[in-house]
Formats: sequence, C-alpha cells, structure tokens
Amino acid sequence: MVLAVKVQIKEGEKVRRKLIELGALNREYKIKREEGFLLIPVKFPVEGFEVVEVELERVETRPNSYKDVVNIPRELRKFLPSSFDIIGNIAIIEIPSELQNYSNEIGGAIIRVHKSVKAVYMKGGSVEGEYRVRNLIHIAGEKITETIHRENGVRLKLDITKVYFSPRLATERMRVFKMAREGEIVFDMFAGVGPFSILLAKKARMVFACDINPWAIKYLEENIKLNKVKNIIPILSDVTKVCVKADRIIMNLPKYASRFLEHAMRCVNNGGIIHYYGFGPEKDPYGWHVKRINEVAGRLGVKVEILGKRIIRNYAPRQYNIAIDFRVSF
Ligand SMILES: C[S@@+](CC[C@H](N)C(=O)[O-])C[C@H]1O[C@@H](n2cnc3c(N)ncnc32)[C@H](O)[C@@H]1O
Repeated sequence: MVLAVKVQIKEGEKVRRKLIELGALNREYKIKREEGFLLIPVKFPVEGFEVVEVELERVETRPNSYKDVVNIPRELRKFLPSSFDIIGNIAIIEIPSELQNYSNEIGGAIIRVHKSVKAVYMKGGSVEGEYRVRNLIHIAGEKITETIHRENGVRLKLDITKVYFSPRLATERMRVFKMAREGEIVFDMFAGVGPFSILLAKKARMVFACDINPWAIKYLEENIKLNKVKNIIPILSDVTKVCVKADRIIMNLPKYASRFLEHAMRCVNNGGIIHYYGFGPEKDPYGWHVKRINEVAGRLGVKVEILGKRIIRNYAPRQYNIAIDFRVSF
C-alpha cells in the first residue's frame, strides 16, 4: 500500500505540480485514475489534501548500468569494469582475470541494458602487429563483427576483427578538424578506415589517406561512398613509400609514430602542421617525444614550433596516449 493524494481529475495537473514543489511526489509509483478522481502517489501526508492508502502500480525504471543487472558473487563486484567501448552495435570490454568465469554473464547484462548492442566481445590481449588489430573473444549476443559506427556526423563501416578503430578518439578527431583550414592538402599517414580523413575532407581541398592494411583501405573506400565524399585518395601502401606534400599531416600510430617522424618532416609543406601521437609515462608523458621531434628536426635542418600538447586518454597503468601538434618551417 502507498500513500496517495486524492483529487478531482480537473485539479490533477495543478496538484501534481504543487506536490513536486513540496518534494512530496513519489515517482516510484504510477498515478491512477479512479471514479472521476486521480490518486497521486506521495512520500508523506501533505497538509490541505485528502490522503488515502491505495495499491498503485510501480513505475518500471530501466537500469542505467550493466552492473545493476549482472548476476555475480557479491565479493567479485569490485572487479567489474566501469566502462567499455561501443562501436556501432558491438560492445568491447576488458574483463579482469578474477571475472573470466563470468564473462558470458557480463556480456549478457550489457545486452540487457544497452538495447542498441547486439554483440559483445572481450579483449583477448593487447593491440598487436603492424595492422594494430586486437584479438577478440565473443562472449554474448550475435556473432557479428562488421558494424557501422557514427561519430562527428560521419558513418564508419568496419570489421572489429580486421582493422583498428577506437571510438575514444572522437573528441581528438573533432579537435583536429576545428584546427584545420579550408582548402588544405592533408596527408593521413595511418588512416585506418578513415575517421580523420572523412571528417577533414569536409574542409580540405584533398586528403591523401594511406594504410598498409588492405582491409582498412577496403573499408575506407566503402566509407568514402557511404559519406559521399569526393576528395579523398585512398592509398594502400607502407607510408614510407609515399610522400605527399601536405599542409597538415596526421600521424596516428602512437606505438611507432616516432620511427616515421623524418618521413613526415620531409613531406610537410613549409609552415605545415604535424599532429603526432605517442604513448608516454605518467611522470613525463611528452619529454621523450619532444626530444625526438627536436632531434629529427635538427638532423634535417628544419625548425619546429610546438603548438600544443595534450593527454588524450589513459592507455595502460601509468601510461598516457598523448598528442603533440607542431609546425615545421624551413
Ligand atoms: C592506430 S591505427 C589508426 C587508424 C586511424 N587513424 C584511426 O584513428 O582509427 C594505425 C594504422 O596504421 C596502419 N599502419 C601501420 N604501419 C603502417 C605503415 N608502415 N604504413 C601505413 N600504414 C601503417 C595500421 O594498419 C593501422 O590501420
């Protein structure tokens, strides 16, 4: 039984507002209509109103987090990850060793709470090899691996088992887009399925998008059509074999970008900007990379001006994924 204020239907809306104002409305139950009256649930008796005790239906509240519905022993709850990635209609989660026996239950809980998610995979190791692809283990839902992800007004089709893609870089990609100028030539050295390239194509005169992974270029070609952009040239190649004279160069290969600095500095136009990505320790995330940028510039006899440095996300314990923007002049 629940306490409810009994009012005539025509007074209902006015009284409901008054009850909200008084902090008395009980939102856990539904309002009921009965013989010309409304029964509005309240948390406590309210002076000036007729209060009755009635049976009311509970409001169904949808859980916000998979943690609210997952069924695991209480002592293991502290190991539940607080976040996971959603790429299109696929969720990817890192499950700690303590919870490996409950991976199917965790995957099922994600599907129950996130209605758009149709498949869940768990990370089976770190991002590997030249193509930077992750080993994934299916834990719940349909066994789909291809999906369409939407970010920054761009649609990106991709297969999570064949190409690299991280939805966590969406803000960074938008930041680079905002820095870009109309009419530039852009060289996206490690383009993947095109999240930087397709966005930048909205401002650039031409974007040259290179990747060594044939699957990345196949999806990039599909994404060019999907987004109806006409000014991207996909290039399937090792980037060291391609040099595009560009006003803006994107070097999104954090693990190995330093090895390609010389190549980028040889390709950039005078006054052009390089967006460099790397991994660095918490204590001094930029130091090693800035030193390396200056070393390479010195060797080539060009000047570099650091325009900005920022931490993009945590990459591993005490390791950051960082970005450094710099201008090259000669
Ligand atoms: C970290 S991913 C970034 C992809 C994309 N920029 C994004 O934001 O999703 C790096 C990409 O570089 C590609 N790659 C690695 N070595 C390369 C090389 N030597 N030449 C061209 N592409 C390379 C990989 O295949 C991978 O798609």
